[in-house]
Amino acid sequence: MKKILFVCLGNICRSPMAEFVMKDLVRRAGLEDQFQIASAATSREEEGNPVYPPARRKLAEHGISCAGKTARPLCRADYDQYDLLIGMDNANLRSMERICGGDSQGKMHLLLEYAGRPGQVADPWYTGDFEATWRDVLEGCQGLLDSLQNS
Ligand code: 4NP
Repeated sequence: MKKILFVCLGNICRSPMAEFVMKDLVRRAGLEDQFQIASAATSREEEGNPVYPPARRKLAEHGISCAGKTARPLCRADYDQYDLLIGMDNANLRSMERICGGDSQGKMHLLLEYAGRPGQVADPWYTGDFEATWRDVLEGCQGLLDSLQNS
């Protein structure tokens, strides 16, 4: 069982998109039984709120539902609970280390490390470009699934 937690600032745009894209890829690959996938926020700003409508619409364009997901904050216990904690940008990684008390087991990574083109997933809350988020998230999740299947 591989346990993956995607993390961003609000948990209403990027990390839920990654959560539900990854769940879709895993389901298509017939590997649902082998994965536990979730997402969380480094802030409490959006706690309890559903996925932001433009992010929800972008997923729906690709036949992916995120119904029922509400934002929840990352907590220290998540570090033991998950095998991989995957942030969207460098600020996320710094906050994740602060909340979890470091990364002694090397579980924290940036999503785009797996896309083969290092970088950060820009925050669509500020850019408004949900198509760019979709492309980054899909490439990152595809690369992540490939890396786990080949490991
Ligand atoms: P996300 O986008 O980190 O991709 O979920 C954001 C959503 C909300 C806020 C910031 C970023 N906010 O400040 O409320």
